[in-house]
Amino acid sequence: MLQDSFGRVATDLRVSLTDRCNLRCSYCMPPEGLEWLPKPNLLTADEIVRLVTIAVERLGVTEVRYTGGEPLLRRELVDIVARTAALRPTPQVSLTTNGIGLSRLAASLAAAGLHRVNVSLDTLDRATFAKLAHRDRLPDVLEGLSAAETAGLRPVKVNTVLMRGFNEHEAVPLLRYCLDRGYELRFIEQMPLDAQHGWRRENMITADEILAMLRTAFDLVEDDPVERGSAPAELFLVDGGPARVGVIGSVTRPFCGACDRVRITADGQVRNCLFATDESDLRAAMRSGASDDELAERWRAAVRIKKAGHGIDDPAFLQPSRPMSAIGG
Ligand code: GTP
Ligand code: 5AD
Ligand code: SF4
Repeated sequence: MLQDSFGRVATDLRVSLTDRCNLRCSYCMPPEGLEWLPKPNLLTADEIVRLVTIAVERLGVTEVRYTGGEPLLRRELVDIVARTAALRPTPQVSLTTNGIGLSRLAASLAAAGLHRVNVSLDTLDRATFAKLAHRDRLPDVLEGLSAAETAGLRPVKVNTVLMRGFNEHEAVPLLRYCLDRGYELRFIEQMPLDAQHGWRRENMITADEILAMLRTAFDLVEDDPVERGSAPAELFLVDGGPARVGVIGSVTRPFCGACDRVRITADGQVRNCLFATDESDLRAAMRSGASDDELAERWRAAVRIKKAGHGIDDPAFLQPSRPMSAIGG
């Protein structure tokens, strides 16, 4: 098991497949992009599958989520998903993507054994999309979403980050759009993880503000909190249900006490928290001949020292040096 000193057990593994992305969402990356990880530092598909196999077979991981950067940019994605879905005990396999290219890949991913996708969508307005993401790709994202639904990658979840002065007036239309199509929308509080260190608490749209905006148009009743388990999203039944909307209040309603996550970066480092300031290098260990037992032990040790929470409210809070795009959200 991957257990920390507070008794939390990590069963949900999030693996970043690349730090590259074809968008430049302003809460994540500067418009000019970032210096990408050098190719030799990236884990190969075989190395990724080896680590995921250790996690599933020896460390009690039951859910594997592939992230990025943008995971659809990784050429071997379908093969990696197929090899993950073939593991025993079979893990839940999911993907968090910006949706570009999903219309082409959704059917093969579903056939390879992918269970679900979460797609980022911050606006329904093409000009706002181009301003927020610095690329004019809204139609590709909407096509990707609908292809995921058709391919049965359900429930299709949508992630929205609202930003003051950009898309905050879109909370209600975005929820209508998702309700009409059967997607589960979740609004996310912006976290201090952007590479350009532009996050300011006063600019963040809080969970309370989001709920107040939604309540101008919908009746929201909190869903059974017992069912939430360790999920970041608090769920609300919309107009009596069964449709739901989620709010991920990482900053004002932190859920670290129930955290069941552990991460592997695209260059093979274990991160025990999104906000961790240190990492454990499984790539170097693997490349210098470590056995599966040794890798598993190193991984356990990395989780054991996980901190109680992200500490964003702590005056001594330091934003991690690795940006969101290189952690995978
Ligand atoms: P589901 O199981 O599909 O509900 O996944 P999810 O909501 O955990 O995953 P997703 O990748 O869609 O992430 C949604 C948002 O939650 C993103 O903004 C993530 O950065 C944020 N998030 C995911 N995991 C954590 C976490 O461990 N801590 C915090 N604070 N935020 C997280
Ligand atoms: N704060 C909150 N969410 C973020 N995401 C990316 N950067 C941030 C941030 N700074 C979201 C993306 C995507 C998910 C992986 O994380 O919108 O849906
Ligand atoms: Fe888990 Fe860290 Fe996220 Fe808190 S901030 S929920 S401890 S990964």
